[in-house]
Amino acid sequence: MSIVERLRAAGCVFAEDEARLLTAAADTPAGLAALVERRVAGEPLEHLLGWAEFCGLRIAVDPGVFVPRRRTALLVREAVALLAGRAAPATVVDLCCGSGALAAAVAAAVGPVTLHATDVDPAAVRCARRNLAGAGGQVHEGDLDAPLPPGLRGRVDVLVANVPYVPTAELPLMPPEARDHEPRAALDGGGDGLDVLRRVATAAPAWLAPGGHLLVETSARQAAQAAEAFAAAGLAARVVTDDDLGATAVVGARGQSPSPAVGAAGEEL
Ligand SMILES: C[S@@+](CC[C@H](N)C(=O)[O-])C[C@H]1O[C@@H](n2cnc3c(N)ncnc32)[C@H](O)[C@@H]1O
Repeated sequence: MSIVERLRAAGCVFAEDEARLLTAAADTPAGLAALVERRVAGEPLEHLLGWAEFCGLRIAVDPGVFVPRRRTALLVREAVALLAGRAAPATVVDLCCGSGALAAAVAAAVGPVTLHATDVDPAAVRCARRNLAGAGGQVHEGDLDAPLPPGLRGRVDVLVANVPYVPTAELPLMPPEARDHEPRAALDGGGDGLDVLRRVATAAPAWLAPGGHLLVETSARQAAQAAEAFAAAGLAARVVTDDDLGATAVVGARGQSPSPAVGAAGEEL
């Protein structure tokens, strides 16, 4: 059986492309055979290659680190639109950064930025440090916003977070590539999938500059509740979707008042 046939038989939809990429990644025929074996056994292609394509960038992704998804380009697009036309370099924070793909793509699109990212997983932090070094990004290890430098309070123009948002009971339904090869902490969003999102929404206003924005990916099903969590934290929330990407996000604006204020749902403060 050819490599393409083996990959196709294992359920790889883009078997020709994958065969080409694995062949290019292997140093020797034995190395190629080993890569094909691992792919057929279900390892994500990106972990085998050591990189993922995201928003036109090649992002390093180590085994055990969440593979950036195509749909997350919606968060990048919205963040870039909010930052367009600024005179001074923006301050951007990526919470739950994983490989740092989101922050890297925003920085690549908007030019010089002050960039901070955090993740609780040391493997993700190592990976993000490599991916964000070129943009001068600082990557901190720890729980959500806890490791951010206090001097950033009230100064962040855009805070992006692709948090884990799969409801715990649905984890067993995920494709084996995710279930078996990505850390549970990268996927599990708690009972209704919104536990981490709520914590981020609560923490964000203290970090945002007046007029700054929080952008979080969610699912279509969770969007209304996610927007409510933003509103409860005092952010004026709107839901954005992209059918081609199959993506949904909530964008929340902090008002112009000097300290974070809490207002009614949907009210721009
Ligand atoms: C869905 S992945 C997204 C990774 C990356 N932002 C992306 O889009 O490719 C979620 C990430 O959140 C991290 N994470 C989960 N809980 C966290 C917490 N309490 N504090 C910081 N990071 C956390 C995981 O380690 C994982 O890297």
